[in-house]
Amino acid sequence: MHHFNRREDRLFAENVDVTALAEHIGTPFYCYSTATLRQHYTRLKDAFAQNEVTICYSVKANSNLGVIATLADLGSGADVVSEGELRRALLSGIPAGKIVFSGVGKTEAEMTYALNADIAQFNVESRAELEQLSEVATKQGKTARISLRVNPDIDAGTHEKISTGKAENKFGIAWDEAEASYAKAATLPGLEIVGIDIHIGSQITELTPFRNAFTKVADLLEKLTDAGHNITTLDLGGGLGIPYGPEDAPPPSPEDYANLIDEIFGDSGCRIFLEPGRLIAGNAGILVTSVIRTKKGEAKNFIIVDAAMTELMRPTLYGAYHDIQPVITNGNVQDVWDVVGPVCETGDFLGSERSLPEPQKGDLLAIFTCGAYSASLGSSYNTRLSAPEVLVDNEKFEIIRARPQYDDILALEKVPDWLKKA
Ligand code: LLP
Repeated sequence: MHHFNRREDRLFAENVDVTALAEHIGTPFYCYSTATLRQHYTRLKDAFAQNEVTICYSVKANSNLGVIATLADLGSGADVVSEGELRRALLSGIPAGKIVFSGVGKTEAEMTYALNADIAQFNVESRAELEQLSEVATKQGKTARISLRVNPDIDAGTHEKISTGKAENKFGIAWDEAEASYAKAATLPGLEIVGIDIHIGSQITELTPFRNAFTKVADLLEKLTDAGHNITTLDLGGGLGIPYGPEDAPPPSPEDYANLIDEIFGDSGCRIFLEPGRLIAGNAGILVTSVIRTKKGEAKNFIIVDAAMTELMRPTLYGAYHDIQPVITNGNVQDVWDVVGPVCETGDFLGSERSLPEPQKGDLLAIFTCGAYSASLGSSYNTRLSAPEVLVDNEKFEIIRARPQYDDILALEKVPDWLKKA
């Protein structure tokens, strides 16, 4: 569900006319809907009414301060994977006590920063990381609350590049080493074991992989409790998928997901953390782009637009499908088009073989489901200016990230002194 709707032939974001936005801001730009963000957060939270659950929005999905602050306002916590994301979460008003720090490569500087911020917990992904965190915490005279991210060796049934819970993935502590790693952690100074953490992948569209992984975690919880560890939190990661195409089967509902968690962990007495990203932000954003020109080729017809893989990497990276629609429907006959950007890579496409009415130069297209992993995966390849981000709330809107100027992106670079002409 989202709040991008058509009024007669025109696309609106809540009560804001997308065409008027484009005239004001220029294209390409991302447009996010506050009502959609709120609805997704609230529906998930409400699905867990019976449980003590903390939703730690996974900041990597969409890390704009305006988006994080919208969720902070609803009481969300955050899942972060770098000092940069931690800074964003804190700046957006998320209390440190609701922030979990995941990731395989936390540096000593990042550990120090997070310890000083007094975050809820570190999700530790290896024994070497345990030892380093212990050293850093001891040096700071602090105690790091930790969960161990365990790798349950479960196939999440998703794209191989976003599957994280198989033994061959780089994430988490190998299942067979989990108990020994907890025993080791208990001997290290500066650490307080609080929980267990898993995250098996992203865009998971069936409950079975979650069931398999959670069942293994429940078993581990029992073993660790028997071994005398005081496990009080379970971080079950993110990963619940969303529909991208009109023909996609509906993924499990937040209620089904919540019921599964209640069935497996309802009596555990543990505080549950969740780390959803896409589920909250994915459908809350569109990417609006203008047609530069069309090109009818021998084998294919192309609509060349001013957005590219630099704004939406997902089709290139994962072969992902995103729905594309004209912002204003015209009555032109439909043809089959590849929608491509100006970037000099054959892989730079936004949609292939789409039935769309023949557009004119300057017509606007909306690419749907660009609220997650779109702006945050963006780049300035081909020295392109990153697309601005706009947040709509009912009839209000605000630019929450401006389009940079060329001077801004060139300012950090220089020609070395030895090449400068006297
Ligand atoms: N927690 C951890 C530790 C994660 O690594 C991730 C995502 C999440 C939570 C949030 O997962 P979600 O609820 O959003 O599925 N760029 C890819 C997705 C990469 C996901 C990386 N980790 C894409 O565009 O599909």
